[in-house]
Amino acid sequence: MTKTTAPGKIILFGEHAVVYGQPALAVPVNQVYAEAEVLDIPRAGIWINAPDIRLHEELSRLAPENPLASVISAVYAEIETRKVSSETFDKKYPAEQKPSATYRNEEKPFGSKTGIEIRITSTIPVASGLGSGAAVSVAIIRALSAHLAHPLDDKKVNEIAYEVEKIHHGTPSGIDNTVVTFGKPIFFIKEQPIEVLNVVEPFTIIIGDTGIPAPTKESVNDVRKLWEQNSSKMNTLFATAGSIAKTARQAIEGGYPERLGPLMNENQRILTEMGVSSPELDRLTEASLNVGASGAKLSGGGRGGNMIALSTKENAPTVVEALLEVGAKKVIVTEVQ
Ligand code: MEV
Repeated sequence: MTKTTAPGKIILFGEHAVVYGQPALAVPVNQVYAEAEVLDIPRAGIWINAPDIRLHEELSRLAPENPLASVISAVYAEIETRKVSSETFDKKYPAEQKPSATYRNEEKPFGSKTGIEIRITSTIPVASGLGSGAAVSVAIIRALSAHLAHPLDDKKVNEIAYEVEKIHHGTPSGIDNTVVTFGKPIFFIKEQPIEVLNVVEPFTIIIGDTGIPAPTKESVNDVRKLWEQNSSKMNTLFATAGSIAKTARQAIEGGYPERLGPLMNENQRILTEMGVSSPELDRLTEASLNVGASGAKLSGGGRGGNMIALSTKENAPTVVEALLEVGAKKVIVTEVQ
């Protein structure tokens, strides 16, 4: 049996603009996570058991574009590629010339009479801006590849998770899969090497859930339509969000997290202009600011899902209470460090 977990995430700065090449900051949220467990079973086939969505089915009976089927098939495809190159290697180097031992001793043949079950559960609300899809993908890739005796490194896990995100989200920046895979605060620019943030002074973020599911794909598509209609206005908004993200990085790495509050408010104003806030998100951000949060904004795709607020540690319970009072369905307090 092999079990792994992957955390949720929040975007601190720069969502949507990041799709257009601007920098953004994201951090993992360990209070919520996806879990994948892979077991050998005395029944042929690759069985997927996801009780949260009442799915218990054999892989071949799922449509290839099913999110779980696509990630599982991608792992098998990657392992097949490795086997082929390892066999070519075996032929090229007779046993006595091999530079090191191979790692194929525990393999389960794909078509054997016994099979496997992949059990997937998650405490991350779906379509809420907390990276549920990316976390489920990363947990499955790690657990399945390890169980098949070909554990994949973080770089490969991230690559596969990104490919799966592309199938389901159209034009993702890759920030969700990256922060979830590496599990560290990151400064992220699309298609650039990952930069881990050096958090000098830890700070407290409160995450409030509107309880309204809002698929990221839709808000990303709507922002694209606006960009097609008025690219110069949207490019200016994206560039401003990008410079906010850079300033925020300096504040975090310089040990001045209290400077993040006004930057969050400014980023929220830009996101509202991009058309991705909502009355419910506005209600929660306002409620947190009214009781002393120094900044607040939506986080992720917007339209619903979650918002975040910056607070001192001491004032966090007051912000939590205020959010619940105005209708937040769930509140998480997380320390960024
Ligand atoms: C979603 O968490 C962040 C967005 O910027 C989309 C993306 O970067 O792929 C809205």
